[in-house]
Amino acid sequence: MNANYRSFPDDFLWGGATAANQLEGGFDAGGKGLSTADVMTAGTHTISRRITPVLEAGSHYPSHEAVDFYHRYAEDIALFAEMGFKVFRLSIAWSRIFPNGDDSEPNEEGLKFYDRVFAELQKHGIEPLVTISHYEAPYHLAEAYNGWADRRTVDFYVRYCEVIFNRYKDSVKYWLTFNEINILTMPFGTFMAGAILPEGNTELSAAGTADNEQLRYQALHHQFIASAKAVKLGHEINEHFRIGYMIAYMCSYPLTCSPEDVLLAQQKDNLSNFLCSDVQVRGAYPGFATRYFREKGIELQIEEGDSQILKDGCVDFYTFSYYSSTCVSAAPDQEAIGGNLVMGLKNPYLQASAWEWQIDPQGLRWSLNNIYNRYRLPLMVVENGLGAVDTVEADGSVKDSYRIGYLREHIRAMGEALGDGVDLIGYTPWGCIDLVSAGTGEMKKRYGFIYVDKDNEGKGTLDRSRKDSFYWYQKVIASGGTQLD
Ligand code: BG6
Repeated sequence: MNANYRSFPDDFLWGGATAANQLEGGFDAGGKGLSTADVMTAGTHTISRRITPVLEAGSHYPSHEAVDFYHRYAEDIALFAEMGFKVFRLSIAWSRIFPNGDDSEPNEEGLKFYDRVFAELQKHGIEPLVTISHYEAPYHLAEAYNGWADRRTVDFYVRYCEVIFNRYKDSVKYWLTFNEINILTMPFGTFMAGAILPEGNTELSAAGTADNEQLRYQALHHQFIASAKAVKLGHEINEHFRIGYMIAYMCSYPLTCSPEDVLLAQQKDNLSNFLCSDVQVRGAYPGFATRYFREKGIELQIEEGDSQILKDGCVDFYTFSYYSSTCVSAAPDQEAIGGNLVMGLKNPYLQASAWEWQIDPQGLRWSLNNIYNRYRLPLMVVENGLGAVDTVEADGSVKDSYRIGYLREHIRAMGEALGDGVDLIGYTPWGCIDLVSAGTGEMKKRYGFIYVDKDNEGKGTLDRSRKDSFYWYQKVIASGGTQLD
């Protein structure tokens, strides 16, 4: 073991992460309204998902049933408890609470569902970590207001927060205002994160989305305001709430040591990562953002009082997803590769997954240090994992040594970062139970410790079973991260 390795603290929050639209199903049960995720068809690695304003007979919408946590939550939570989870990251489906988003009263049946889920978690001593909005805004807000492009959505969101903060103030301590808020800095985020309806083309891939950068950054500004208001309100409702920031951390290396590439990598880090976190952690737009807006002709409508709102609503902790790294280059025509929601350049030193996401555990250590050096806030890695095709053996087992290998190296990297002095407080690998892929809508891209019998066409018994990684992660947690083999 490396001499710099530091043990994970005793109160380290080991667990797993999910999102309602990829997990729950029950898309129209208990008074739930349609969400933006519910109008997205299934795709594949090579075929983009489509957004269909009217649900099409004969098309497959993976969120509608997902993996049916809505009916099986007790069984699933018992399995999480068996693995030893201390924390479970889930999201609340906004359209379960406000079916249209702009309703005057919340939907009691939706609220009761999460009462039951939180009670079940409490029974097992598992702390919930709740994402308030994870790519699942009420679809009516997209249709009637163009989603986050309209400032009125801020008020709808804050009212939703007020309802859930009051309702769950004694059962939830950790909240995240938005999942991967920085996705709105990229065309891909227009519909999924911004609930902004695409003009014309309804393919989800970045290339297929008619982009309106002005509108995206305006929507992002509205989310910053909404988040800051929620943080302030949450602290007023319960001073013990810990309300955090969440980002898809884009770890981008310069492809070469040419100063152009190095500068480009820094600019990418600034615009893709630190723009959003500077606003939410420090309470103001950084200078490089102002310069970018000026150079791109982006003129944000910022209301009087907005800068104070941002200052008053700084987050308590910083969380992020980390799956892979990519490279950037100032030179044209370099070989591209996939990645979490966005593409980058291929790194000749790294291997990639079947979905072309490059595997880079050291990039996680680098990212943890990079973020901590800037903010000195407690950090959590709230998504990480390997999307892979699993094979069920004749005896029912799933021998996912590739997943164990991936996670082991990333946990080692977190240990090294702890040794570097980073205040890392939790780890919730993505899709701790198999669920629908956000990017492609597939089931066969699996991340879980728990296998769910369901295929890409939506067929299967939905039965749950334990993969080899289930028993491995159970040992990791029981040993406090010291037993990784
Ligand atoms: C993150 C999202 O970007 O990546 C999750 O927050 C998503 O919702 C995860 O599922 C993995 O991406 P994918 O496309 O493999 O599901």
